[in-house]
Amino acid sequence: MCGIIGVVGAVDALPVLLDGLRRLEYRGYDSAGVALLHGDSLWRARSADGVESVADLIAKCDDGPHDCATGIGHTRWATHGAPGEHNAHPHVDCASGIALIHNGIIENHHELGDELRGRGHVFTSATDTEVLVHRIEEFRREGLTLTEAVRQTLNEVTGAFAIAVVDAAEPGVIVAARRVSPLVVGISEGATYLASDIPAIMDKATSFFSVDDDQLLTLRAEGVTATDLDGTPISLAPLVVDWDLETAQKSGYPDYMTKEIHEQPEAVRATLLDHLDKDGTITFDEMRLSDDALRAITKVTLVGCGSSYHTAMVAKYAIEAWARISVEVDIASEFRYRNPVVDETTLVIGVSQSGETIDTISALREAKSRGAIVVAVSNIVDSSMAREADAVIYTRAGLEICVASTKAVLAQIAALEVLALRLAQVRGVLSTERVVELFHQLTSTVDLVAEAVSREAAVTQIASQIANAHTFFFLGRHVGFPTALEGALKLKEISYVHAEGYPAGELKHGPLALIEPGVIVVALATDPALHEKILSNIAEVKARGATVVAVAADGDERIDAVADYVIRVPATPALMTPLVDIVALQQFAYQMAQSRGLNVDRPRNLAKTVTVE
Ligand code: F6R
Repeated sequence: MCGIIGVVGAVDALPVLLDGLRRLEYRGYDSAGVALLHGDSLWRARSADGVESVADLIAKCDDGPHDCATGIGHTRWATHGAPGEHNAHPHVDCASGIALIHNGIIENHHELGDELRGRGHVFTSATDTEVLVHRIEEFRREGLTLTEAVRQTLNEVTGAFAIAVVDAAEPGVIVAARRVSPLVVGISEGATYLASDIPAIMDKATSFFSVDDDQLLTLRAEGVTATDLDGTPISLAPLVVDWDLETAQKSGYPDYMTKEIHEQPEAVRATLLDHLDKDGTITFDEMRLSDDALRAITKVTLVGCGSSYHTAMVAKYAIEAWARISVEVDIASEFRYRNPVVDETTLVIGVSQSGETIDTISALREAKSRGAIVVAVSNIVDSSMAREADAVIYTRAGLEICVASTKAVLAQIAALEVLALRLAQVRGVLSTERVVELFHQLTSTVDLVAEAVSREAAVTQIASQIANAHTFFFLGRHVGFPTALEGALKLKEISYVHAEGYPAGELKHGPLALIEPGVIVVALATDPALHEKILSNIAEVKARGATVVAVAADGDERIDAVADYVIRVPATPALMTPLVDIVALQQFAYQMAQSRGLNVDRPRNLAKTVTVE
């Protein structure tokens, strides 16, 4: 996590850095800082309170760093060292001439730190990062250029990093490098930029390049040169950027979460586009896997984290129902440590909005090393996962900025259900007529999602009435189970209320002991086949004093008699109900957070892209 940005060239660096950091705050906002090369000295400002307080600090400064051509900035999500000014980046060397920002974790920082302290270096932070700048300082003292000093340092390091370094003794240069943690480069007439993510520099640069693992960059006003960590020159791969600045702004919505909830019909529509040929064949242009390869698959394993894990669970039901292949779903961080049984006939699918989540990347690498066919489902074009996998399926939700995922979740479900149809078709399990019929059902969910989004006021009204509750259980069966998990996760992460998602059938095996007056049970009751069972579960919790909020389809006449509150959603084919039910649960969580006066876009302790294990 953490956001990094840098600029060198014919621009005033400070506003570029602050502007970029504001757009990167979704990656972490525990603290922030900038460093600029000012004449022949280094100027640094840091704050424990994020980007705006860095801007305030600088505004109050009479001899502030104006018209500097080179600078770097950082917004932090703390891993090693508590949030605080002394741990905020940039970190500097003993002489305060070199400044460095870092995203990632330096795993051997203890050993390196002990050695550096033994040679007299004074550390001022509790971070894993600071070792880097002191080691670079040593190599600089030996007469190495900044680029060579960074290269030598990184060759001693284990762990993950995206770094950017400036040195007052070598003005007009930023040296940067990447291993695991994301980094992109942007170029415009007379200026060169780097950032953790495109939005930070989207409106500044005119062409963009991705940086791969173990690539070292030297940025100057006139462009960038790149080598690997052995010094062999390489060329950076151009990056396709299909967003504009408007997509990175709130566009009149009060926050990104509301905007992104409202963008969901479009996210689903765009994701489904162009997947059905005129002859009824389901296609994936970017997938690069032959029909024969798909026919040879004996098992599908899906991996993901957080919400992406939940959408993977939804996919399990669809793939098993339509393609009749056995499906396993694993939390990505568990997959590679359990000696998974996968081989060349296993299709392993990594599901991720960012395509950069380290646990999911690692799981895919593990699967690949065991010979599996690896597919990435990614919302970001050319993400690390997209580049490393054998094939990629892009969700087309557009840029998602709110930390809590919304539109990417729906887009993933849509994409994975189309994949389920593709598998069913190529393996001859479903006829083309049936596949086309199901695909059309999927496309008609676009209107159903829009209808669900439009019912915001009704959900808000119900959520407001129970806003003071402290304990929530979300219960569902079949795809209602992952939907329940997703509803509970959204509530936890943005309103800090304790919530658990449960398969409704498990209720009697423990959780029922926790049901008492004051507990809220949110019951997913939209699947007609399982309606009776959910009504029984509702009766069980009602009998123990719980207040029940049911999510039920239009036309469900029995639900009013048993639930205390009913959130109505449009009736939807069973396997597609998560597409509408999740919308209602997002709105529910949103209102709970609003009632508590919380910032929905920036939940405490969280960051959007988790690039550390
Ligand atoms: C929840 C949320 C997270 C992400 C998880 C995986 O609202 O946003 O749980 O789903 O961190 O991220 P990606 O999908 O980028 O791999």
